[in-house]
Amino acid sequence: MSEKILSIKYEEFSSLEEMSPEDKELCLKAIDARKGSYSPYSNFQVGAALKLADGSVVLGANQENVAYPSGLCAERTVMFWAGANYPDIAFDTLAVAASDKGVLCESPASPCGACRQVMAEYQKKHGKPFNIILVGSKRIRKFSCVDDLLPFIFDSLKV
Ligand code: THU
Repeated sequence: MSEKILSIKYEEFSSLEEMSPEDKELCLKAIDARKGSYSPYSNFQVGAALKLADGSVVLGANQENVAYPSGLCAERTVMFWAGANYPDIAFDTLAVAASDKGVLCESPASPCGACRQVMAEYQKKHGKPFNIILVGSKRIRKFSCVDDLLPFIFDSLKV
């Protein structure tokens, strides 16, 4: 038996002003994308802005349903939209911002496991890691690849 320790790397910022102009702009788009949230059941609005390798930006927001599991998180909404409309363009950066009853959360919302698995799939499909920025009003976290959010990714049917 040997004990292993896994470490993950991310950057933490305390305000958008500390970020590069490009990242700040994408975070503002994610904050704005919350407008598209349809969340009458949770009252938790999540916006996502996905920058593609060609510089275009697509937006998404969580969509809920009275039959709860039929809804979809902001992250998967935007990734599936990009996958369907820009199938050959790799992802560059995904920014996500959440608010509770309309107020931007101080600490960023962390993507659910299903969204992390979908991120892993697009990283694999395009053969290229992409950045993930989780935006809160007091803390912003930037990851440079999905692996740092989802260790031991399931990415192959072969073992
Ligand atoms: N949600 C997201 O859209 N993204 C996350 O990262 C966390 C949760 C949504 C799902 C549901 O509509 C609401 O937030 C409450 O869980």
